[in-house]
Amino acid sequence: MNNGFPLTLNEHLATIVPYEPGKPTEELERELGLKKTIKLASNENPLGPSPRALEAMRHAAAGCHRYPDGGAYYLKRRLARELDVPLEWLIIGNGSTEIVEMLTKAFLPPHGGSLVSEGAFIMYRIATLAASAPVCSVPMTADRRHDLAAMAAAVTPAIRLVFIANPNNPTGTRCDRREFDAYLDQVPGTVLTVIDEAYREYVDDSNYPDAFQALRSGAAVMVLRTFSKIYALAGARIGYGIAHPDVIRALEKVRSPFNTNSIGQAGALAALDDRQHQIRSAAENRQQRDRLEADLVRRGLQFLPSSTNFVLMAPGFPGREAFQALLHQGVIVRPMDGYGFPDHVRVSIGARAEMDRFLLALDKVRVERGLHAA
Ligand SMILES: Cc1ncc(COP(=O)(O)O)c(C=O)c1O
Repeated sequence: MNNGFPLTLNEHLATIVPYEPGKPTEELERELGLKKTIKLASNENPLGPSPRALEAMRHAAAGCHRYPDGGAYYLKRRLARELDVPLEWLIIGNGSTEIVEMLTKAFLPPHGGSLVSEGAFIMYRIATLAASAPVCSVPMTADRRHDLAAMAAAVTPAIRLVFIANPNNPTGTRCDRREFDAYLDQVPGTVLTVIDEAYREYVDDSNYPDAFQALRSGAAVMVLRTFSKIYALAGARIGYGIAHPDVIRALEKVRSPFNTNSIGQAGALAALDDRQHQIRSAAENRQQRDRLEADLVRRGLQFLPSSTNFVLMAPGFPGREAFQALLHQGVIVRPMDGYGFPDHVRVSIGARAEMDRFLLALDKVRVERGLHAA
């Protein structure tokens, strides 16, 4: 600490690199004096929320002078019905990342640590370190997926939580059923495995592991899901976790009393009823993702085949430079050097016109560097 701030911090904070969120379009427009910029940087749903969710949120706004229902009873009741589990198996978070934080607070101090994959969603690491606990990380497979066999083998008595993003952000890759089942067979029942399924609705593969079924069958698993992606409610901050009631009771002890707001709860509840919006969101994402991947192949650019609403791609020159150059074209993507991918950027799947605009900008910045366009 410097002399101007002579306080003592949690010593683990020194190793935390703060989360770098996607740049808002307003900020870019202000900074560079640009107009009509587009953001393909936070894996949001370009369709926007379901009209039903919007209507419910407008209605809920009128009651904002009241505190929200801290336990989110109606949302939990609706999810319990949908999933066919008792209410006691559910917890609602201010986004699923808040549940990651609850987990690290409730399970790790003073002697436990967590196990993650290299190249995994960074919040597992940040939340663990913020809880003054150590993180152990395992290299990915050559094709940039979680190496579940190596992760199972890396579990020691000090590991209390294992985080698996399936599919993973920022790689967009996933593990399959056989790998997952073999992992569960090997890992001791004293470890809670957290399966983060933020992008599950974008996966269309019958080989996708059924973590929820594993939980029902008694595995020491917690499943995390979110309303931020296919339900298009990222700004409303609602995620949920499904786990054994003992796990939920532990998390309830560290949950802050009014962690989710009444507008978000109402929006999430209504969004669950709009199945057509979910189907359309997944279909449009698939169409634009397929187009983008084909366009990248045509340009001879490397990318990881994605199971999500984003693609990790190599623009042909350093990712941070590409990020900056694209900003000047009014296109916001995400540099990925912080995740150990210095040659890549992560591009979220937007609407058709946004993807066209991205490709034009990409061609332009590549040509400026003497690289081939399409
Ligand atoms: C793997 C993964 N999990 C969780 C989240 C966060 O979701 P939420 O908005 O519910 O906090 C993200 C967000 O990008 C993510 O990529």
